[in-house]
Amino acid sequence: MSSYIIKGKVPLRGKVHISGAKNAVLGILAAATMADETVTVENVPDVNDANVVLEALSAIGAKVKHTAAHTVDIDGSTISNYTVDYESIRRIRASYYLIGALLGKYKEAKVALPGGCDIGSRPIDLHIKGFKALGADVELLPGGFIYVKAEKLTGANIFFDTVSVGATINLMLASCMAEGETILENAAKEPHIVDVANFLNTMGANIKGAGTDIIRIKGVEKLHGTSYSIIPDQIEAGTFMIAAAVTGGDVTVCDVIPKHLESISAKLIEMGCIVEEGDETVRVIANDRLKATNIKTLPYPGFPTDMQPQMAVALSLATGSSIVTESVFENRFRYIDELARLGGKAKVDGGTAYIEGVDGFSGAKLIAPDLRAGAALVLAALAAEGISEVEDIVYIKRGYEDFAGKLRGIGALIEEVNSERDAQKFRLKVG
Ligand code: UD1
Repeated sequence: MSSYIIKGKVPLRGKVHISGAKNAVLGILAAATMADETVTVENVPDVNDANVVLEALSAIGAKVKHTAAHTVDIDGSTISNYTVDYESIRRIRASYYLIGALLGKYKEAKVALPGGCDIGSRPIDLHIKGFKALGADVELLPGGFIYVKAEKLTGANIFFDTVSVGATINLMLASCMAEGETILENAAKEPHIVDVANFLNTMGANIKGAGTDIIRIKGVEKLHGTSYSIIPDQIEAGTFMIAAAVTGGDVTVCDVIPKHLESISAKLIEMGCIVEEGDETVRVIANDRLKATNIKTLPYPGFPTDMQPQMAVALSLATGSSIVTESVFENRFRYIDELARLGGKAKVDGGTAYIEGVDGFSGAKLIAPDLRAGAALVLAALAAEGISEVEDIVYIKRGYEDFAGKLRGIGALIEEVNSERDAQKFRLKVG
């Protein structure tokens, strides 16, 4: 099982290029299968979750071809099988987008129920309620499948009780070829919602209001081919911004949309960093010790739950006490015990972590509990004195393209190792 081995305390400096957004690509790859022609998707990140969806699309008969490292052609017109039962798909959350896409296009789908990181209870009741409102029958079958079927899908008014990224995207997929108009109320507003809507519109869909809390979708008869480039990953960019902050570095994250990063930039400025926005760049300079602050995760444009663990690492190294309130998922503090191994001081009470800043961390062996917490532990190790190891990096690879390589590009001492012998070589090399 591979791990990252890291020698910390090197201030990170330089430029890092951000990949396409994981959470946008997962919706877009499913959506691409709804066209009758070939769709070209550019800026596809090379992350495990996206690769699993691509394999699942091939398995149901779509033609999938990488024409360049980050460009994929998808022809969904050859899909002949509406059952997605593929071992890896059970492990990713975004399998649910295949339900919406296949239901929307073929009026039928049988998909293994979603998995994903264990960050709390992750129901799909809002997705199911929405599919039913459009006229679909939904059944949960033995063996962990969801089966949806409709004679006909008809536009409906759907109000989400909770703001849900997944349900909003899924209902855009399921309704964009339904008869009549669908109105989604209390919709999520994340940048990737807008990206999926823009993508569907370039294929001929008629979706208005994405990015606000009311989305109006007028059903169209068919969708056509297009060529589309995915937006940059807000969370990958934010992770590198915090990497600069915790190592006292100076890092320019390139190929980003600075507006998507405002909630993260604002917090880093409050903590004493200098944040300079360019047209497609954000530079973070950390000259002084970070200052404590409080954060509360909220749906966009609030502070993203997917940046909560990384920010908590920065707050653990700040002067004073900070309070971190997680209001989206209830089980997102499993990394706090790992931080304690490095010398972090925090107590968790329900959905709140109370953090006492410490002067520094010292290297330790750590285990990544999930995707974002895993990335946060890598940041903590980069800030720690001495050598750390982060195990179970398979989680990190779900959502970060070449994480170690990109960090090395800005000066980090980090290697992926597969054996104690490799780890020993690294220790000898870094001295
Ligand atoms: C997506 C992202 C994930 C991110 C999260 C919040 C993908 C593949 N994953 O996850 O990285 O952390 O948005 O920004 O895009 N809920 C229900 N019923 C439902 C659906 C959700 O109660 O049917 C609740 C959830 O338990 C959670 C909240 O709604 O408390 C938000 O979840 P949601 O936005 O749906 O997250 P995901 O789409 O799973």
